Amino acid sequence: MGNQIKKVGILTGGGDCPGLNSVLYGIMLKAYDVGIECIGILKGWKGFLENQTIPLDIAEHDDLHTVGGTILYTSRTNPFKGVESKEKRAKELAEKFKELGIDALIAIGGDDTLGVADLMCNYADAKVVGVPKTIDNDLQGTHYTFGFWSSTQLASNAMDNLTTTACSHQRVFIVEIMGRDAGFLTMYSGISAGADIILIPETPFDFEKDIVEILKKRANAGYKYHIIAISEGAYPSLKSLERDFKTISKETIDKLPKDTYGNPLLVKLNMSQIIVDELNLRDDLKQEFQKNGVEFECRSVVLGHTMRAGAPNSFDRILGLRFGLAAMKLVLESKFGNMVSLQGNKIETIPLSEGVKKKYLTPENDKMELRDLLVKIRYLSKQK
Ligand code: F6P
Repeated sequence: MGNQIKKVGILTGGGDCPGLNSVLYGIMLKAYDVGIECIGILKGWKGFLENQTIPLDIAEHDDLHTVGGTILYTSRTNPFKGVESKEKRAKELAEKFKELGIDALIAIGGDDTLGVADLMCNYADAKVVGVPKTIDNDLQGTHYTFGFWSSTQLASNAMDNLTTTACSHQRVFIVEIMGRDAGFLTMYSGISAGADIILIPETPFDFEKDIVEILKKRANAGYKYHIIAISEGAYPSLKSLERDFKTISKETIDKLPKDTYGNPLLVKLNMSQIIVDELNLRDDLKQEFQKNGVEFECRSVVLGHTMRAGAPNSFDRILGLRFGLAAMKLVLESKFGNMVSLQGNKIETIPLSEGVKKKYLTPENDKMELRDLLVKIRYLSKQK
């Protein structure tokens, strides 16, 4: 072995995600083949700081790539939180390699976890490579993160299934979907399930125009039940907030706890329930429904952690395995400070600093147009 790597540590950080174990298995397959030992570091950076490790013997983990969650456990511990000197901290962390008995580290995680890996490489030349992970798919460096499609499928299935109860009771269902401040999960699952209204954080919504009016138009076109897909981080435009909302105000949003970048944590709002409350105050909407023979009833469903639950789908198993294999190869080739990524259908290498930047849905994305057509054409085409 050219670079004298004998033991590799692996950690998983941030929210768990279908496909984490698939990455692990991909790493372990290649490592075994070239005679490198793998050590699991438990609970992400927490276990790294506290020397919590387990041996990873591939003989004991047949078909690990098919199993959901992460056998290494996870946490959101950030070793740089609150430190004064990043350089000093990075050097301390790089020193931990000796204590842990590892020659290199593969960090699997989202922007937070990989951000730590990046700082360690930048300031301390640490031998770390990264694998991008998040169900939210909001990392710039890769076309898709593993876990995204499993999660999209779960949300899409949930909305498919909700239509039977929505139909039976002639109700409006507001389905709140994970993804923080990025709308990929809501947009893809909403389109996939044929949701009637799709609201994402990237395009603040107008309560009157994007919800009330559409529901009225759909009711008049003969629709008796409706599914609204809304991102947990979606919010109304300021104009709409001030004009249309009775149960929350700008102050409600201003008072929200902030994330580390100072942005309000919109996920704390429970926007699906707020919309239920606001719609329930609209007598004009109720009258429009009644005119069409329907008593207005509205419910909110927060999909929450069911969206990360269970086994990865085939796409995420394969992508996870490919990422794991590629990450191990980066270690073998001493390409530290980099992460693996999916570009089209190819696995590529990019610097960690590039990969950890955030990605959002942009106006030119064809999914935006699809969403708008999907919502509009159904009621328009039924108007006589
Ligand atoms: O980033 C992944 C994610 O699942 C988000 O979609 C969601 O907002 C968040 O994690 C939930 O975090 P936790 O598991 O800490 O509640």
